[in-house]
Amino acid sequence: MAVAKNILDGNKNEWALLRRHKSEDIFGIQLTGGDPELITRAAEIINHQTQVDFIDLNIGCPIDAMFNAGAGSALMGKTNKLREAIQGINYVTDCPLTIKLRTGIYKNKNIAHKLLPKFDDWGVQLSTLHGRSREQRYTKLADYDYIKTCVDELGDRQMALYGNGDIFSWEEYYQKKEYSGVSGIMIGRGALIKPWIFKEIKERQNYDIQASERLEIMNEFCKFGLEHWGTDTVGVNTTRRYLCDWQSFLHRYIPIGLMEVLPQKINDRPPVYFGRNELETLMASPKASDWIKLTEKTILGPAPESFTFTPKHKANAYEG
Ligand SMILES: Cc1cc2nc3c(=O)[nH]c(=O)nc-3n(C[C@H](O)[C@H](O)[C@H](O)COP(=O)(O)O)c2cc1C
Repeated sequence: MAVAKNILDGNKNEWALLRRHKSEDIFGIQLTGGDPELITRAAEIINHQTQVDFIDLNIGCPIDAMFNAGAGSALMGKTNKLREAIQGINYVTDCPLTIKLRTGIYKNKNIAHKLLPKFDDWGVQLSTLHGRSREQRYTKLADYDYIKTCVDELGDRQMALYGNGDIFSWEEYYQKKEYSGVSGIMIGRGALIKPWIFKEIKERQNYDIQASERLEIMNEFCKFGLEHWGTDTVGVNTTRRYLCDWQSFLHRYIPIGLMEVLPQKINDRPPVYFGRNELETLMASPKASDWIKLTEKTILGPAPESFTFTPKHKANAYEG
């Protein structure tokens, strides 16, 4: 998610988000902001200066700093600004516009079903509905009953609707898709915890990925990190930090060869278990100090003694 004002200010970190990697065969840029004019101007620049296939407007981000600035999920409560931003983006760009939203701002006060038909009127091509309100964060399960209500509300309108929330197995993907009638499902944490989930969905089967193969996936990540940040001390440490960040999600995976009942659910806290080898056990550790140890098994090698890590994203916690 890139913030419109930061893009217009030429903020280096924000512009880094707009860079497309050669391996990305489809690439969208997600924008947010509190001012429709700034959002429109940022979209125009993105359309001209980046290789983008679609622009996604974020009106679901729950973070206080965004919400208080009238951006992210605050936009769900500001229909006029929302219309101006959507029509503005559509006017200045020639790529499809999509929207990412939540059920509403407050729990028990769903408003998405009222907004979605308007989005269709205003030229949005696809919306993705995360089945929780801002207030809920990650507590309670995503509400696929409500997502189904929204599908029904849209009837045979042109705009596609995707659902989002809690999908962690190919079985759940097809169950929830069929149940709610959505055109597709977006996957967030499931892809972070189990990056091969898309292959499992496509092939409708579970894969018992071994620890050595998981280490290979981490090494691939390190290779891209070093390519991007450089192989000097700063580059290696930055890559290590991002790898620890990712491990804060990856450690939640339970190898299916060790499970008594399939599939694993995203909100189930795994019992403490021993893996089939030392590496698999280390990969399951919830301790940040072990995440650093694990980075030392990758091509990054030993960490400096001064290296510490504190997870920054609350979404990796079971409580949300
Ligand atoms: C680390 C992390 C970063 C996220 N960043 C974004 C973001 O930039 N934009 C966005 O629309 N949603 C973001 N989300 C929310 C997810 O897209 C998704 O809506 C949410 O996690 C629920 O889906 P899931 O249960 O499949 O994870 C993020 C989630 C996580 C865990």
